[in-house]
Amino acid sequence: MASKTKKLGLVSLALCIGLSLNINVNAATPHKKSNFFRYNGGISKTDILLRKKLRFHDVKSVEKPAPQDPAMVELGQSLFFDKELSGRRNIDCETCHSPFLGSADGQSQSRAQGAIGLGPSRRQNGDERFDFLPRNALSLWNRGVPGWDVMFWDGRLSGNAQEGFISPAGDDTPQNFTNALGAFSAFPITPDEEMRGFPGQLDVFGQPNELGDLTDEDFVEIWDLITARIVNNEGYDELLDAAFPGVEQKDLDIADLSNAMGAFMTEAFTALDSPFDRYLAGDNSAMSDSAKRGALLFYGRANCAACHSGGLQTDFEFHNIAAPQVGTGRGDAAPLDLGRGAITGNPSENFQFRTPSLRNIELEGPYMHNGAFDELEDAIRHHLDPFTSLATYDASQIEFELAGIFQNDPQTLETILSTLDPELVVYGRPLNDNEIKDLMSFMSALTDPASLNLFEIIPTSVASGLPLAD
Ligand code: HEC
Ligand code: HEC
Repeated sequence: MASKTKKLGLVSLALCIGLSLNINVNAATPHKKSNFFRYNGGISKTDILLRKKLRFHDVKSVEKPAPQDPAMVELGQSLFFDKELSGRRNIDCETCHSPFLGSADGQSQSRAQGAIGLGPSRRQNGDERFDFLPRNALSLWNRGVPGWDVMFWDGRLSGNAQEGFISPAGDDTPQNFTNALGAFSAFPITPDEEMRGFPGQLDVFGQPNELGDLTDEDFVEIWDLITARIVNNEGYDELLDAAFPGVEQKDLDIADLSNAMGAFMTEAFTALDSPFDRYLAGDNSAMSDSAKRGALLFYGRANCAACHSGGLQTDFEFHNIAAPQVGTGRGDAAPLDLGRGAITGNPSENFQFRTPSLRNIELEGPYMHNGAFDELEDAIRHHLDPFTSLATYDASQIEFELAGIFQNDPQTLETILSTLDPELVVYGRPLNDNEIKDLMSFMSALTDPASLNLFEIIPTSVASGLPLAD
């Protein structure tokens, strides 16, 4: 399939160069070879340079996911928006992955259990126990494309149906997931501060939460109880029978439900019709001149593609770009967040995070693993000069309860900067403001216009009958 896509890409590229060549070559005297580079038809000098760079970096059209089973998508849609999946029936996936907020939640770190409201206006609910999630909510764009095998900012879940899955559940990781996205959906349910709820707290109807007294590590028990909730809910009968024809509902497990959510997310959040996609498919008029100049920088002097490589602008690897260490931090190292290093235990990987895909990036701020930057331009400028960025960082741009929690003592900064990724370079002179504008135009060219309005993915109701609103 990949080689077929490649051939098609090359054919359309050859066709489009051929077409514009015809115009020029016919007009040119045959022996003047230099005319070869003077296209004034469908392809400009910028296009020639950019297409050469894209070929050099092996950037090709992204392979679309296979069509999803409509019955799985319908079940997954209901589950994604259904608070029945959370211990206290008070929070659903969409709370943090909103169609209105770039499939994330617009907060630097997510407010989960004990909070109420949507997006940036979500606040602690009275005096209920409330902890921030340790990270910025990731977006869900294109997570279902073939090859997206690494999940979370630190890659602690990975794998595919052929090679198997690795996850925080260790040996308890089910292996009957369709793909890493399907596997992922089983995990937001387990942490107490995220969807499960704290001990002793009642659900929204004043009833006990049967998940509340478990621990985050009781994966199997949590998954069985959540599956039982869905299977025992009459509202789900039809959806389950349609999605799993011939399967007894009592034989369903969490992987089946997760796969359905994966199918829904794939259907809802695949976003591969941006100007950049159309340019890759051969349409030279799809991107503005400024976006093309930005792309030339991205794939050239600014070296962005050293990490943000391939059609999705990620190498799926981990790098330390010395993002400001603000907010709660995560795990034993809090208030620091060691990222990949905390998963592998290898100090040389401390402060590394998975290179984010930049698709639809302008829709999903704040940016970085902890939402350190409110503005996309600031996130980009950070890469260009991390030293100055850390020295001048304004920690009031994160959630107000966390504002000012910035680990910027000289010793910590030195430690973080000591393993800064060497690929973080700009060749030649520093970028000027116009060049940064061009880079921003290129970021805009990565937005799929269809993602600007996702009203149609929101159901009118969910199968359990719980309210959609918070
Ligand atoms: C309270 C907020 C919250 C809720 C509820 C929530 N998520 Fe997330 N989600 C996050 C955060 C934060 C991350 C990043 C965590 C990390 O990397 O450590 C994330 C990451 C993800 C990712 C990984 C994307 C990637 O690029 O690796 C997927 C997929 C996802 N969530 C799907 C879901 C699904 C499905 C549900 C419901 C079952 C859900 N989320 C519920 C906040 C939330
Ligand atoms: C050395 C690898 C590397 C290079 C080179 C690099 N980036 Fe990044 N980029 C990353 C990593 C890793 C992160 C996430 C860091 C974190 O959250 O702590 C990131 C974050 C970002 C973000 C924020 C994304 C989000 O979802 O929060 C943007 C935008 C971005 N990079 C754009 C660029 C641009 C534009 C360039 C070139 C000027 C560039 N990057 C160069 C690795 C790199």
